[in-house]
Amino acid sequence: MTNTVFTEVKHGSPLYDEVVALRDALLRKPLGMQFTPEQLAAEAAYFHFALLADGKPVACLMLVPHEEGQLQMKQVAVSAELQGSGLGARLTAAAEEWAKDNGYSYMFCHARDTAVPFYERQGYTIDKAPFTEVGIPHRYMYKQL
Ligand SMILES: CC(C)(COP(=O)(O)OP(=O)(O)OC[C@H]1O[C@@H](n2cnc3c(N)ncnc32)[C@H](O)[C@@H]1OP(=O)(O)O)[C@@H](O)C(=O)NCCC(=O)NCCS
Repeated sequence: MTNTVFTEVKHGSPLYDEVVALRDALLRKPLGMQFTPEQLAAEAAYFHFALLADGKPVACLMLVPHEEGQLQMKQVAVSAELQGSGLGARLTAAAEEWAKDNGYSYMFCHARDTAVPFYERQGYTIDKAPFTEVGIPHRYMYKQL
């Protein structure tokens, strides 16, 4: 497996810009969409993380705080050429450790249908009815940390 370093990413930093580019390539361009300046500005309130290989982000996600100590894991993405090599599992596990260390005990996500088996492998459970987000089918999934 690729040697990677888990790191928190400061909103607005040069590394944040690289992470946004990764998310754009993997999660928005394939849908014919792009992030708006307003969406990115709002992300200042979120926690951002990445796995770095040789200083470059190869996987990323963000954690959005909600009421009652809940966190939403969003925009999980692994570089296309490195998918299937365990980086997604490593990244989500590290983010869950960070969440526990910071007093959170409940993580949820809106999983694309195509990613549901990945989250199930990480111990997440499907709940609620299927729904559509960014034009594609999703499921609510959660995990007690
Ligand atoms: C979904 C994604 C984050 C998974 O990351 P990854 O690095 O490819 O996954 P890993 O290699 O860590 O896989 C971990 C486990 O999940 C399984 N898994 C991963 N993706 C899977 C899929 N689409 N279907 C079934 N199983 C999958 C792996 O087989 C592995 O199983 P194991 O524990 O038995 O070895 C990544 O493929 C990705 O970035 N996809 C495109 C963007 C996306 O859809 N993000 C999710 C938005 S909700």
